Amino acid sequence: MNKLRVGLIGLGGVAEAHLEGYKQVETIEVVAGSEIHSGRLEKMAKKWHLKGYSDYGEMLAKENLDLVCVLTPARNHREVTERVAECGVHVLCEKPLAVTLEDARAMIDACEKAGVKLGYGATWRFLPACRKAKEMIEAGRLGSIMLLLETYVGGKGYENFRDAGPMHYPPGGPGGGGMGLVDHGIHLIDMFTWLTGSPVESVFGRGNYSGQPPATEYLTMNLQNGAMGQLVYNEATIPCEMPYEGIFSWGGSWDINYNLTLGGGWDAQPQNFRIYGTKGALRVFHYANKLFLFEKEKQEQIRVPDRPMPGNFALQIESFARAILEKKSPEVTGYDGLRALEAALAAYQSYETQSVVRVKPT
Ligand SMILES: NC(=O)c1ccc[n+]([C@@H]2O[C@H](COP(=O)([O-])OP(=O)(O)OC[C@H]3O[C@@H](n4cnc5c(N)ncnc54)[C@H](O)[C@@H]3O)[C@@H](O)[C@H]2O)c1
Repeated sequence: MNKLRVGLIGLGGVAEAHLEGYKQVETIEVVAGSEIHSGRLEKMAKKWHLKGYSDYGEMLAKENLDLVCVLTPARNHREVTERVAECGVHVLCEKPLAVTLEDARAMIDACEKAGVKLGYGATWRFLPACRKAKEMIEAGRLGSIMLLLETYVGGKGYENFRDAGPMHYPPGGPGGGGMGLVDHGIHLIDMFTWLTGSPVESVFGRGNYSGQPPATEYLTMNLQNGAMGQLVYNEATIPCEMPYEGIFSWGGSWDINYNLTLGGGWDAQPQNFRIYGTKGALRVFHYANKLFLFEKEKQEQIRVPDRPMPGNFALQIESFARAILEKKSPEVTGYDGLRALEAALAAYQSYETQSVVRVKPT
C-alpha cells in the first residue's frame, strides 16, 4: 500500500507527541518537518529522521506531500493553512483552530476552495476513556445528560506565574496565559458538545487576555439539549500543593490515589471531568486513562482500552488518513474547530457586557 506522505510544520512540544503516536500508524509516512528555530530543527530532524526545512514553503514545493499537520502556535494557523491549501495539500490543524472567528472561517473557505480536507485536532475525542464515555452515553447508561463539569487549578502561585500566552496568542487578545479557556478549555467545549451531540446555545463567562494578570476564567454553557456545561480555570493564583482533585499543573501534583507525586507531567495528572445524567454519573480521567461510573446502588471502574496518550494522536491521524483515502469527510472538521472557538470567544463578550451571550454559528 502507498503510504500518505506527511509533513509537519512547527516542531515544538506537541510535535513530539504527534511523532511518537505516528510510529503506530501504517497508512502514513512522516517524511519532512519545518521549524523556524534552527537548533530545534536540527535536533528534531535528527531524532525523528526527517528531512528538515527552515522554510515550510520550500518543504511544500519539494516534498510532494499528501497531508500537512499544522503544529505552530495558534496565531499563525491561518497563514500556514491557507498556504498549504493553495498547494493542494490536505491539512490537519492543531487546536485552537485560530485566534479569531474571521481567521477560522477563512481557513475553512481556503480549504474548500482548494478542494482539500481540513481536519481539526480535537485530540481528546481519540482518548480511550473519552470514547468509552461517549459509547456509554449513547447506550443510555447515564440517562439524560444534565451537567458536565471541569475544574482545574494549577501553577505555583501568583508571583511565579509564567505567562506563555503571548508566544501563542497576540498580546492583549484572547488566549490568557496559554493554558486557560481558549487554549485548554477549547478541548472541553468540543468534548461536551461531542458527548451530548448538542451544540452550545448560549454562554456566560470570562476569559483572560494574553500578557495581562490572570483572573479565574469560567464558562457556563447552555447546550441545546438542556444540559449545562461548566469550566472553571485558575492558572496561577492558588498553589498546586493543595490536595485538590482535578488539579492541573506542571509541578508536583496528586495522583489518582491522592499520593503526592513529584515532578508532575502528563502521566501523573489526575485531571478529570465529570458527566452527570438522570441515571448515573461518570468521572473521566482522560490522560490517566481511567473511567469511573457512579450509580444509585454502586460505583465501579469501567475498563477502557490500554492505549493512552500519544495513542490518541495515532488514532486521530489514522482517521484523517482514512478520510483522504476513502474520499469522505473527516471525523472532526474545521467546522468543529470553529464552533468551539465561537463558544470560547463568547465568554469575553459576556464579561464585557455582563450578560448571557447567544452563540450563533458564524
Ligand atoms: N492537542 C493537544 O493536546 C495539544 C497539546 C499541546 C499543544 N497543542 C497545540 O499545538 C500547537 C503548538 O503547540 P506547542 O505546545 O507545540 O507549541 P511550541 O511553541 O512548543 O511549538 C511551536 C513551534 O512552531 C514553530 N514555528 C512557529 N512558526 C513557524 C513557522 N512559520 N514555520 C515553522 N515552524 C514555526 C516554533 O518555533 C515552535 O518550535 C498550538 O496550537 C497548541 O495549542 C495541542
